[in-house]
Amino acid sequence: MFGTSRLILRGLDQDADLTALVNWCGDAETMALMGRGPLVPTSRDQAKQFFLPRPTGQDLPLFAICEKQPDRSYPLELGADEDYIKACGPAIGILNFQPVKFDYKNRIATLGLVIQDKQHRGKGYGKEVLLWGLEYAFMELGLHRMQLEVYSFNEPAIQLYRKAGFVEEGRMRKVYFKGGEWYDVICMAILEEEWMELRKKLQK
Ligand SMILES: CC(C)(COP(=O)(O)OP(=O)(O)OC[C@H]1O[C@@H](n2cnc3c(N)ncnc32)[C@H](O)[C@@H]1OP(=O)(O)O)[C@@H](O)C(=O)NCCC(=O)NCCS
Repeated sequence: MFGTSRLILRGLDQDADLTALVNWCGDAETMALMGRGPLVPTSRDQAKQFFLPRPTGQDLPLFAICEKQPDRSYPLELGADEDYIKACGPAIGILNFQPVKFDYKNRIATLGLVIQDKQHRGKGYGKEVLLWGLEYAFMELGLHRMQLEVYSFNEPAIQLYRKAGFVEEGRMRKVYFKGGEWYDVICMAILEEEWMELRKKLQK
């Protein structure tokens, strides 16, 4: 269930993923696409905040994206002393359903997605994991709306979200200051019924 043809989605794990997370936070180019705050170096202790349990009722999943290994068969059959997290392999990115607070009354989640390792971008992984994530969000978690914000200069992400059925709902002008320039934020969302239509087309 937690995977696509080429990827596994497993829980993000402090023991397995902390070092990767600290390294990723050192990649200012990618961090500038992800958050609105000032770009600052991240310590191990700060990165640990990412793994803290969230308050009950705001605890949607946070997935590590891993590549399936050519020398293994799937679903994974584990040896007696084998560890599932290790068997899934190192994370190449993160799928996050609640980088901001989950609105559980209205069943609205906010999406965050990064294929962190640049050599893994442009191979269709982002689209694969996003379509998987939407199916999981609407058909398993019972969400009603998935929304996100993306910077106006982030063309790869905007194109990807459009292809996955997200609709542009509006634009906040000059919200984000980067490199001495102001940029707009584009608000996008997909509704449950729009996903149901799209998945019918994808299944044909
Ligand atoms: C955005 C991101 C997740 C896309 O993942 P990816 O695996 O590289 O994307 P895919 O290979 O699945 O491409 C899917 C679609 O995205 C678009 N896309 C991907 N890379 C692109 C690029 N460099 N330029 C323009 N469009 C691009 C294309 O429409 C592509 O569809 P196509 O293959 O049919 O042309 C990835 O670039 C990333 O992690 N970026 C940094 C973090 C980020 O910006 N996250 C989003 C914050 S809102």
